[in-house]
Amino acid sequence: MRQPLVMGNWKMNGRRSMVEGLLKAIMADIGDLFGVEVVVCPPYPYLGLVMDRLAANSTVVCGAQDVSAYTDGAYTGDVSAEMARDVGCRFAIIGHSERRTLFRETDAIVAQKFARSLAADLTPVLCVGETAAERDAGRTQEVVLRQLSAVFKECGSNAFDRAVVAYEPVWAIGTGRAASPAEAQTVHRFIRDVVARQSAEAAGRLRILYGGSVKAQNARDLFEQDDIDGGLIGGASLAGADFVGICRAACIG
Ligand code: PGA
Repeated sequence: MRQPLVMGNWKMNGRRSMVEGLLKAIMADIGDLFGVEVVVCPPYPYLGLVMDRLAANSTVVCGAQDVSAYTDGAYTGDVSAEMARDVGCRFAIIGHSERRTLFRETDAIVAQKFARSLAADLTPVLCVGETAAERDAGRTQEVVLRQLSAVFKECGSNAFDRAVVAYEPVWAIGTGRAASPAEAQTVHRFIRDVVARQSAEAAGRLRILYGGSVKAQNARDLFEQDDIDGGLIGGASLAGADFVGICRAACIG
């Protein structure tokens, strides 16, 4: 049985006051969630503040939105996986489509970041997914396979033993147009099958999140699918009630 996981990706949003308010709203409501692991990924400058406010509540942990492909050194502006772990992060989002597109991260760079996260004892959350054009051309599985293969190539056949995958179709991110549960399930199953070719055991344990316009209203139908183990939430993670509603939808039983 895989423990459901819900992650809030705040992206580059917020100020101290907003962070305080959002955390307060989440903490006020989240106490009675059963069996769900909840992670918030704030912008780096607010990690300390978030960590402070979360200290009393072990239900919610912190993740990084990205990490450097390098270890410490002369890489102005970067934050290493070791640093993220050192300040208390447990997870790191790797290869989000915004990083791949806006910051031109190649599959190879993404794979390096994945490897750095594993080495720093952070759980990498590898984002994969196709664009609208790729989907329309019937290339979804080819794209996802390429993105997974780059990580296998860098990290070896047990790459996903201690990792999470997030299927995030690019056309669904921030558009209000989520993949249908059946559509998402098909790709999630494919991802699990690809990992199973290397290790059936790792594939069975692997948590595969869905991301892209998840709301409190559509979360349950998505999470009910056999191979959807939770969600990576953007916009809806910025409103406490919405985010907790999504976490609730992932509750066991
Ligand atoms: P969204 O973003 O929930 O706003 O669609 C998801 C993501 O980018 O991880």
